Amino acid sequence: MEKTLLIIKPDAVERKLIGDIIQRVERKGLEIKALRMEKVSLEKAEKHYEIHKGKDFYNNLIQFIISGPVVLIVIEGKDCIKVIRAMAGSTSPLEAVAGTIRGDFSTDILENIVHTSDSIETSEKEIKNFFKSLS
Ligand code: CMP
Repeated sequence: MEKTLLIIKPDAVERKLIGDIIQRVERKGLEIKALRMEKVSLEKAEKHYEIHKGKDFYNNLIQFIISGPVVLIVIEGKDCIKVIRAMAGSTSPLEAVAGTIRGDFSTDILENIVHTSDSIETSEKEIKNFFKSLS
């Protein structure tokens, strides 16, 4: 069965949105396979976002994701990668529609509440980075 990684980012943890986001996942009918709260290390952050290395926002992105605790969630379900991405909404706050997580909670392209895997290949890599026992 397909798996994906959802990260509740430091801005959402600080704003006490953990419960709301998890409730959306559960009410959708998806399975939470693993869940952990932690402050991400620089090493893991750089590995997670290595595809963005060299982009103008890369340093800010790394500093942001290690700035406070996050919640790492492995979700399982049919087509869950696409389902969770649709629930998260567009990265651009101008395009994230109401009813999506970003559309409801964020106006910022960097501090955008959640991260979601974008393909089967990336989800496997991302889950492996944070949950050794599931890979
Ligand atoms: P995420 O889904 O975690 O994947 C990459 C992250 O980079 C993205 O969410 C945003 O937090 C950030 N990001 C993407 N594009 C931009 C941008 N143009 N400016 C600043 N941050 C960005």
